[in-house]
Amino acid sequence: MTTPADHSLNLDTRQREMLAAMGVTYWWPENATETGKGTDTGTEVSHTATVAALAQPAASLTPPRVAPAAPSPPPRSVANHSINKSGKAVFDSENAPSTAHATSTLAALDWPALTEAIQQCTACGLCQGRKQAVPGMGNPRARWLIVGEAPGEQEDKQGLPFVGPAGQLLDAMLAAMGLTREADVYIANVIKCRPPHNRNPEPAEVAQCAPFLQRQIELVQPDLILALGRFAAQTVLANVVPDIEKLPLGKLRGQVYHMNGRPVVVSYHPAYLLRSPAEKGKVWADLCLAMAHLGYNPLEGYTPTA
Ligand code: URA
Repeated sequence: MTTPADHSLNLDTRQREMLAAMGVTYWWPENATETGKGTDTGTEVSHTATVAALAQPAASLTPPRVAPAAPSPPPRSVANHSINKSGKAVFDSENAPSTAHATSTLAALDWPALTEAIQQCTACGLCQGRKQAVPGMGNPRARWLIVGEAPGEQEDKQGLPFVGPAGQLLDAMLAAMGLTREADVYIANVIKCRPPHNRNPEPAEVAQCAPFLQRQIELVQPDLILALGRFAAQTVLANVVPDIEKLPLGKLRGQVYHMNGRPVVVSYHPAYLLRSPAEKGKVWADLCLAMAHLGYNPLEGYTPTA
């Protein structure tokens, strides 16, 4: 078996830096064989594609398409709120609609209308604490859709997804794949407004917000969805994997699912990787799986379909 050190000779300086920034020094999945089959995870990773992926020069692989403008601060609204004894508007969950927006209504929305609907949404209590909603960013017809969890402090301030520390790691992951967030991917979260103190989203909040993500998937029509973290995986694969909420992410990753015919790969969230850097190699294996599934070789781009 060829050693990781041998492969690393194929890397250019930029890729060594990017993988190092990801914390991947031993990039090949544990127990991988010469044929590239990860025996520990069942990951079907093409050895050739992996080596090629690591040896590619910086390149943008899809023609840049115009990204939607950064969202402007939303008008505040008190819809779905009642006034408490102190005269303060509080979220009235009893009188809120059971879903934020009917999927059928959202189905008619184009990007500007969808962005506005997200920015103005007051369907759950998260609207009370937000500075602004975070619809998403990137290439609106990207081949890759990255799905995260929810905005954090920086995202809430800037109105853009993954711009804090986890976002820097995500950018390093994309760079190691030869991709950029502006040209090659669209990035969206399950939840569009920051949960207080970055707490986990509640099931009702996910239920309210998920139709926005569903419409984003319809508009982007990505070739592959990369769901990062438990909440992204559970939302995207809700109708694909029975009892998904009972499965830890470690059991979900390492394979390709299909949601309405669209490939989905699940991996750990970058914020988790910041806390558990030892898992970065598994994420790199998942990214290699996704690249191989798309027939994407960063040296040559996408394999033309016959
Ligand atoms: N974590 C997420 O899941 N999304 C963001 O936008 C930022 C951090």
